[in-house]
Amino acid sequence: MRIVLLGPPGAGKGTQAHRLADYYGVRLIATGDIFRRNVRQETPLGLKAKSYMEAGELVPDDVVIGMLLEELRRSPNGFVLDGFPRTLPQALALEEALAAAGQPLDAALKYVIPDEVTVARLAGRRTCTHCERTYNLEFKPPKVEGICDNCGGELVQREDDREETVRHRLEIYHRDTEPLQKFYWERGLLREVDAVGEVERITRRAIGALEDLART
Ligand code: AP5
Repeated sequence: MRIVLLGPPGAGKGTQAHRLADYYGVRLIATGDIFRRNVRQETPLGLKAKSYMEAGELVPDDVVIGMLLEELRRSPNGFVLDGFPRTLPQALALEEALAAAGQPLDAALKYVIPDEVTVARLAGRRTCTHCERTYNLEFKPPKVEGICDNCGGELVQREDDREETVRHRLEIYHRDTEPLQKFYWERGLLREVDAVGEVERITRRAIGALEDLART
């Protein structure tokens, strides 16, 4: 299974990506998580990405595409891609790399949710500094405050989850990433998923959409 997840910041892509990757037994590639790990470890890649991320801007295409192609080489048995592509050049680079490998994309799922719901979700989000699992103070609190249920890592608020930065990220999403909906629609790969409701229910909607697409 090779799928990409589209949708605004806070739509729940990360939450759902873990569940879909487990369900299909494929690798999860989350570009935001990879960048955050590199920022923490102060690698050359992290140093390039840091200022863009903190400002809620996109990391330049050449930096992201190089990193992603490397990740794809390590995912011969399929993947769930969370956070990539975000621009047309990224979508084209992905399409070209997958065509060259003879492994085309199976689907693009777009998580649909009103902006105001995502702003509220992100205000309460806490993220594990070790495994990147996300929690929510209101909707999905950890069992022990400040500690990740999954790995025991420390939970923190992301720098870019301040309301002003979230609103800027939403503007960039609508300007640069939302047009990819048309790109995948034209290729017959797009399915929309209602991203409001219980996490488990949204996963079932996504799996239903993928099964529906496979039948067409
Ligand atoms: P990235 O990490 O990809 O952030 P994002 O796309 O903005 O998405 P988020 O992680 O904010 O939200 P999400 O949809 O994953 O929601 P989540 O599951 O956490 O990117 C960060 C930055 O990296 C970018 O701004 C950019 O600078 C850079 N970058 C990354 N990729 C790039 C690329 N390809 N090109 C250029 N730059 C790139 O859920 C949110 C909250 O809601 C959580 O608290 C969660 O617990 C809660 N929640 C989830 N589902 C539900 C539900 N059903 N009901 C209630 N609460 C829920």
